[in-house]
Amino acid sequence: MKRVTIIGAGEVGTSCAYCIAERDVINELVLLDRKPGLAEGKALDLRQMAAIKRFDTNVIGVCNDYTATADSDIIVITSGITRSPGMERSELVTTNAKIVQEVTQQATKYSPNAIILVVSNPLDVLCYCAYITSQFPAHRVMGMSGLLDIARYKSFIAEELNVSSKDIQALILGGHGKTMVPMPRYTTIGGIPIRQLMSEEQIQKVIKRTQLGGEELINYLGRSAWFAAGASICQMIEAIICDQRRVFPVCAYLNGEYGFSDIYLGVPVILGANGIEKVIELELDPSDKENFIKSENEIRNNLNIMRQIIQS
Ligand code: LAC
Repeated sequence: MKRVTIIGAGEVGTSCAYCIAERDVINELVLLDRKPGLAEGKALDLRQMAAIKRFDTNVIGVCNDYTATADSDIIVITSGITRSPGMERSELVTTNAKIVQEVTQQATKYSPNAIILVVSNPLDVLCYCAYITSQFPAHRVMGMSGLLDIARYKSFIAEELNVSSKDIQALILGGHGKTMVPMPRYTTIGGIPIRQLMSEEQIQKVIKRTQLGGEELINYLGRSAWFAAGASICQMIEAIICDQRRVFPVCAYLNGEYGFSDIYLGVPVILGANGIEKVIELELDPSDKENFIKSENEIRNNLNIMRQIIQS
């Protein structure tokens, strides 16, 4: 019996629910929201879709009833407010840290062996919040941001070169924000290094657009987006549930890797049944290292703010 709980039946939670239910790799999906009727209604709708999309995942919707989430293999936390135009992700910490703290306490009470997948923003900082609140080992607490940022990076490269995004392999390090570090050195298209296909000017344009990828969407939608985020979480769930040992960029706890300790940051990992099976360490050239340190500094400042909020 494989059970996954998604906390928060907003746009991101529901998109993820749709993607993972359709993959038919888990037996039960519990959608939980604190707004009466929201998770219940969306789960009912998804159960009806099962006949058309042909999946057997049983989708259950509950209003704040954590007993229904008991013994989940994975808990996905999407709770909290999202950004409006002009806001930085870090500004969400005041509201979302308390929410993630409370949700983590409730969910882990009923699923003490689960793997926690944080999606709420500010992502890196709230992963740390879920880690200290749950007191789970670090390999069982992680965040989704790298797959989404890389999906954006790939889509912009594909657009720029008029090629399929399927053939692009890429890597981004660091925090989920403007200081993220897309890595052209580790970006290939059909095995061809990107620098052989794109000018430095084109690459820099794509990097900038990726770093501001969330903002571009917010400017259209008035809030942050959900389809690519939902699909990215789905890929991580599947990697864990099916023990695929995928090599994914994940927001992971670092304990000396890359020279950083006691912090959550985006790095490549092997993702399998135990969660983070291994953090992969790469050699960085000086400019990438410098950018990674800038990103780390930003996250560390926000960590201190988060700590004060959850202790108050
Ligand atoms: C984004 C939000 C979800 O990047 O952080 O779209």
